[in-house]
Amino acid sequence: MLEVEHLSAWYGRTQALFDVSFSLQTGRCMALVGTNGAGKTTTVRSVLGLIRTAGSIRIEGEASERLATPKRVRRHRIAVVHEGRGLLKQLSVFENIVVGLPKSAYGRLDEALDLFPALKSRLSEPVTLLSGGQQQMVALARAVAERPKLLLLDEPSLGLAPGIVDEIYGHLGKLRAAGLTMLLVEQNIARARDFADELCLVQTGRSAFTVPATDTEAVTGLMKLAFNQDQPVRPPLA
Ligand SMILES: Nc1ncnc2c1ncn2[C@@H]1O[C@H](COP(=O)(O)OP(=O)(O)OP(=O)(O)O)[C@@H](O)[C@H]1O
Ligand SMILES: [Mg+2]
Repeated sequence: MLEVEHLSAWYGRTQALFDVSFSLQTGRCMALVGTNGAGKTTTVRSVLGLIRTAGSIRIEGEASERLATPKRVRRHRIAVVHEGRGLLKQLSVFENIVVGLPKSAYGRLDEALDLFPALKSRLSEPVTLLSGGQQQMVALARAVAERPKLLLLDEPSLGLAPGIVDEIYGHLGKLRAAGLTMLLVEQNIARARDFADELCLVQTGRSAFTVPATDTEAVTGLMKLAFNQDQPVRPPLA
């Protein structure tokens, strides 16, 4: 579904990525993990074509580096939940879910809301009246309504209480079970390991290390590497 090779990326003249490579198979989940400022969000932005890059980005087998963002997103049905959710604060819950969707897609709303029934009674409320967890569900409902083939998730659990994070990951688990391919940014390595198929450690703009989530020894090594920077990580689940 997505093959990134030797990716570099720049904000103006500042280089943020130097050499990021990973490969995400259809129906699988790759977690990008790493400390603050490592380049995870920049990798997501690069996949979307939002910033200047060099290197190779193949989506569904097609070279996509030169495809502008709107075309890239439509052609490959990519949905994204941005870091910080990217909701429009002056709009209602309903408006946030449908903004930018073609009218013909409104039929999918029921599908999206069936995943998040708690939102059904809140549709006309300003989105800002919802809790952080509920707002994250709005962002997810919006992404689901786009019926994506590839879902990019940038720290869906950021700033949420552990119970709510469990709930969000419960929803994400349903989407995975339905076969959706996911690129997940997650700072919590234990959480990433429990959810994803593979973990790619990003450090200073480089993909330092990619390991299967089931390889306990390799994940421990990856945790140590991440630990030795500045990020405390909870120990592996028993
Ligand atoms: N808009 C921007 N303009 C200039 N530099 C930026 C911009 N956004 C990010 N950077 C720089 O790019 C590098 C990678 O940042 P990025 O946001 O990708 O990190 P991250 O891994 O997502 O971190 P976090 O976990 O804190 O979200 C950092 O050095 C950061 O300062
Ligand atoms: Mg980020």
